[in-house]
Amino acid sequence: MTVFGENNMNVRLRRLRSHPRLRDLVREVELSVADMVMPLFVKSGSGVRSPIASMPGQYQFSVDQLASQIDAIKAHGLPAVILFGLPAYKDALGSAAMCEDGVVQQAIRAIKQQTKDLLVIADLCLCEYTDHGHCGVIQENGIGQVDVDNDQTLALLARQAVSLAQAGADMIAPSGMMDGMVGVIRTALDLAGFTAIPILSYAVKYASSFYGPFREAADGAPQFGNRRSYQMDPANGQRALREAQLDVDEGADMLMVKPAGSYLDVISAVKQAFPAVPLAAYQVSGEYAMIKAAAEKGWLDEQQVMMESLLSIKRAGANFIITYFALDAAAVLRA
Ligand code: PBG
Repeated sequence: MTVFGENNMNVRLRRLRSHPRLRDLVREVELSVADMVMPLFVKSGSGVRSPIASMPGQYQFSVDQLASQIDAIKAHGLPAVILFGLPAYKDALGSAAMCEDGVVQQAIRAIKQQTKDLLVIADLCLCEYTDHGHCGVIQENGIGQVDVDNDQTLALLARQAVSLAQAGADMIAPSGMMDGMVGVIRTALDLAGFTAIPILSYAVKYASSFYGPFREAADGAPQFGNRRSYQMDPANGQRALREAQLDVDEGADMLMVKPAGSYLDVISAVKQAFPAVPLAAYQVSGEYAMIKAAAEKGWLDEQQVMMESLLSIKRAGANFIITYFALDAAAVLRA
């Protein structure tokens, strides 16, 4: 049946678009301040507030410089931050990721002292802490390649998770794409008494070049090779459902798809397959940088494109969005 056939001249979809209030009334999805999580880069040292060149408007903060940013985040009504660390030292095993005075552990304690009214999510991965920049322990893999060893890495991730929980993290978000990471972290948290701390798994994380600016921001670029032996192939959509299923089975409380904008089909498929599991999407550094760069050139309207990109991610099926635009979009929504 064709909608605009001869017998359907009375169909006028534009009727519902005629009045701005009517458009408001029939809108299918809405973006709200409560849907957005702000990423923060925390650097060791003091007095640090360094702008990140490829991410205009974003900074690396030392722990002592975080307070005003946290105040702004709270004042805008955002519900949560997710923390990434730039440690004082790196080594082969990423030891600085799991020590009591680690930079993220210190940041969590400082934020918790400042406010109890903000969720503090701790990203959990070793790439910012290893001298080789990979997300786990490097080993010869038995078929003649140097690769990240899955199971040795799991043991370290478990220690990192407990350390972050002890510092006061409200939620642990493992992003390293190791098989079995959610189960191992769940067990470790439970044994340490943190049965109430949820796991937000970066279950579906692609080996994406959209992470480029983040690797400057978090100083976590691999020093050799790439992440294709653990992060997903951008060509694979259906495989996302296996990744999600495995993590749900291991006890993930929430799932994530990352990046967001080029993977809206994957967000939609994961939401449909797991409607009862809250789904996050990460609008990553490269997505942010592209919009910022085009806006700086005057080629795009930054505010409009920002809001449209975020709304599209919600429309695809994400329940909430990790985005460097969180503060800016909250300002627009509250205006
Ligand atoms: C760490 C991690 C990365 C991002 C989030 N966590 C980098 C990577 O996997 O290479 C990227 C976030 C962004 O680009 O904004 N594993």
